[in-house]
Amino acid sequence: TGPEKVAALARRKASGPPLTMLTAYDYPTARLFDDAGVDMLLVGDSLGMVVLGFPDTTHVTMDHMLHHVAAVARAKPRALVIGDLSIGTYPDPETALANARRLVAAGAEAVKLEGGVRQAAKVRAIVEAGIPVCGHLGMLPQRVLEEGGYKKKGKTPEQSAAILEGARALEQAGAFAIVLESVVPSAAEWITSQIGIPTIGIGSGEHTCDGEVAVATDLIGTFPWFVPPFAKPEANLAPQITAAAAAYCRRVQSVPISHPG
Ligand code: KIV
Ligand code: NA
Repeated sequence: TGPEKVAALARRKASGPPLTMLTAYDYPTARLFDDAGVDMLLVGDSLGMVVLGFPDTTHVTMDHMLHHVAAVARAKPRALVIGDLSIGTYPDPETALANARRLVAAGAEAVKLEGGVRQAAKVRAIVEAGIPVCGHLGMLPQRVLEEGGYKKKGKTPEQSAAILEGARALEQAGAFAIVLESVVPSAAEWITSQIGIPTIGIGSGEHTCDGEVAVATDLIGTFPWFVPPFAKPEANLAPQITAAAAAYCRRVQSVPISHPG
């Protein structure tokens, strides 16, 4: 049902309402977010940072992704389940397609990969095999080491034009949507107006794209050690989790051990 869901989502560029995407990495979160009516559940490679404790997404492997895509898929969400192709898993069209097929076998209904013009042939190969592909432009976390940090994109007309060129290449290759990450809001708005497939923004301003994506832990406040400046938390669960564990420790320890030592 991936392609059917994708067709309905793509129509929303024209008709609205704006598209909603949240990351999920496990079964309960997928079920809870799906119950909330979110359109898409992204098993993002942000997994590496906010669940697995790595410093960035460059440590994430295909095996990590398969394990968590399968967990999310077991929730049988109504939402479209998208799995990220992690770093190094799409060096050429053949390998990209083989790994996309593995994500689908694990339960993904679509895949996402980072980059524009250079990825077009890979996107085409995956799409022609019947697997929907979401693109990802702007700040590309898999390149954070080369870039030396998380930087805003589309600051100059030249940069914006380069992102648009990538977006057009992805659209022509058959991508059904494109995540725009950390793109200057005016550039995100302009790129969105210039292409026929939906854009999904993160850190690219509010209401500048055809939809938005948020990282689950940023939304619910379960990764308090790093919260991106653009995050808009709707809950702050970290203190409640610590408090629950502390209450448990107090309860267990409230009565001294009674057996004879
Ligand atoms: O891995 C991820 O969470 C992502 C989103 C930020 C779009 O790619
Ligand atoms: Na990602």
